[in-house]
Amino acid sequence: MATDVRIRTWFAGVLALALLCVAPVVHAGDPASGQRIVEKWCSQCHAQTGAETNADRGPTYEQIASREGRDERYIRAFLDRDHFPMTTYRLFDHEKDDVAAFIASLRRR
Ligand code: HEC
Repeated sequence: MATDVRIRTWFAGVLALALLCVAPVVHAGDPASGQRIVEKWCSQCHAQTGAETNADRGPTYEQIASREGRDERYIRAFLDRDHFPMTTYRLFDHEKDDVAAFIASLRRR
């Protein structure tokens, strides 16, 4: 009997540990971090707010976020592709999450 309980306790412990290990690391994008990233890497072409008037630059993130269908999901997927005329860039996946959260947050409600 005592052995039975000990085995069960042991098993519950192992199970709990295993669950902790496989628990998916859910990373919700952090807009504040996204803002720092775009300031560093993207400001050559994109202002953050307002409407861009210089034809040599890209639209502002506020303009982008206000386009049809530009939700966080769309923007996150867009960041996995190369984007012309920007030269190839590499952001970590968690940075892309942050950037997408930041841009999506600029959508006018
Ligand atoms: C060399 C200039 C340049 C740089 C640098 C640049 N972009 Fe862009 N980007 C553009 C242009 C031009 C467009 C406009 C195309 C358009 O109107 O959809 C654009 C469009 C976008 C869009 C909108 C896509 C859509 O489908 O609506 C997003 C999002 C975006 N850029 C994000 C970024 C991010 C994030 C960075 C930095 C990692 C970045 N861009 C750096 C020029 C640039």
